[in-house]
Amino acid sequence: MSLFKTAHLVSLTALWIVGSQLVAAGLPASSGKSAVSFTADVAPILQRRCVACHGPEKSKGRYRLDTFAGLLKPGGDQATVIAGRPEKSRLYQLLVEKNPDDRMPQDAEPLPAAEIAVIRAWIAGGAKFDGASTTAALTLLMPRPVHPPAPQRYAQPWPVTALAFNADGSELIAGGCHEITFWSATNHALLRRVGGMPERIQALALQPGGNWLAVAGGAPGRSGELLLLNLLSNTAPRTLAVTGDAMLCATFSPDGSRLAAGGTDKFLRVFAVKSGSEILRLEQHSDWVHSVAFSPDGQRLASASRDRTARIYNSTNGAAITTFRGHEAAVEFVTFNDDGKVLLTAGTDRKVRFSGVSEPGKPGEFARFEVAVTGLARVEQSVFIALADGRVTQRRLVKRDEVQSFTGHGDRVTALAFHAASQRLATGAHDGKVRLWNLTDGKLLGEFTASPGFVEVAGK
Ligand code: HEC
Repeated sequence: MSLFKTAHLVSLTALWIVGSQLVAAGLPASSGKSAVSFTADVAPILQRRCVACHGPEKSKGRYRLDTFAGLLKPGGDQATVIAGRPEKSRLYQLLVEKNPDDRMPQDAEPLPAAEIAVIRAWIAGGAKFDGASTTAALTLLMPRPVHPPAPQRYAQPWPVTALAFNADGSELIAGGCHEITFWSATNHALLRRVGGMPERIQALALQPGGNWLAVAGGAPGRSGELLLLNLLSNTAPRTLAVTGDAMLCATFSPDGSRLAAGGTDKFLRVFAVKSGSEILRLEQHSDWVHSVAFSPDGQRLASASRDRTARIYNSTNGAAITTFRGHEAAVEFVTFNDDGKVLLTAGTDRKVRFSGVSEPGKPGEFARFEVAVTGLARVEQSVFIALADGRVTQRRLVKRDEVQSFTGHGDRVTALAFHAASQRLATGAHDGKVRLWNLTDGKLLGEFTASPGFVEVAGK
């Protein structure tokens, strides 16, 4: 566990140094060009520091700045932005206000001088808008964060937080550090690497019947991204969302036409895969959205949250259908059973619970464990439960009895992937190991460390 923390800290520090060098040079983050860009330089500051109080959730002072149009529309009498005149613009005045009770952001330290300088320079330069739409959310205007290259060779194994099979099951796709790695499912050779990815990949999902791989991830507290990577072409990924904090989950509708995703910004979003547009944004949870699932018929959507609830919605219009309370702790995983009538949830309370979709009330107990549940996935009439002790147990949905268990990982299992046609299960663990299993007889087919260039020292 400490391995991962170390790696994470190192890369954060590296990024911080890059950032402060830019600041020292007096340049905004998009330093290539001289003029300050609203979308590249100003929007990320506002998104990170201000939108929580001035956005769709809260609009303090009757003021919203989550879109460019909103930014210009004052909540009071005074203009918030007057092009060319920062000192007369209320938005700027409030950033440099001496009285801490009136200064923005409220109840917080003033913005770093470099960020105030960016906003001042932007207003002084004419407060120009360089985005596509003045009514689009800032997160849709913001360019993707620039990522450092993935390590050429991993000095330490990278925890496997996300795994997926390609369509024909010949390749296993794993989340790495700022990259996605592709491995042969037969001889475990590294086939290719795709960089420019978020620091930590939290979810990978293959489009049913299609070629899009959904990638959700980010860097905690700093940025999040939801991307679509085409597995058949070498083109750059499509960006569906850029957020101020990590995206945690993503899943396709059974027909592959929609993608649902959630993250630390508490929203559950649904996107049309073809156009890439956000078609639903649900704001029901009061804390991180850890997991999302479509019902087998695609008509319902369920979410699990750190706010200790799971919720079900109509997946077309977003209408809330039911809320399940009953877990004594964060709910981290959710899945429907095979007929869509039962919701299975797992939380940090070490229990898997089940609830009738149309009859809320106290959820029943499906299984309880001595250790934390670290993954949950339904495959046909079974549910696979990953555990912190390195085990994965397969239980029948109806009888709840164990069909078989997959043991041998030396660390907690943090990723599960299935390939139905070849009956393969892949499990990934916190220690960087991936194991491949035959689902039919439970036999282990192979094991490898999904960290390119990492060499395990014997006996260590
Ligand atoms: C913790 C919540 C919070 C945060 C974060 C915050 N604000 Fe505010 N803001 C408020 C409140 C509350 C008011 C109303 C103050 C009042 O009416 O006295 C306000 C008022 C304003 C107004 C005046 C609106 C008007 O037209 O009268 C502006 C401009 C503003 N904020 C800008 C910002 C900017 C820019 C940031 C980010 C750098 C920011 N705020 C961050 C809470 C917040």
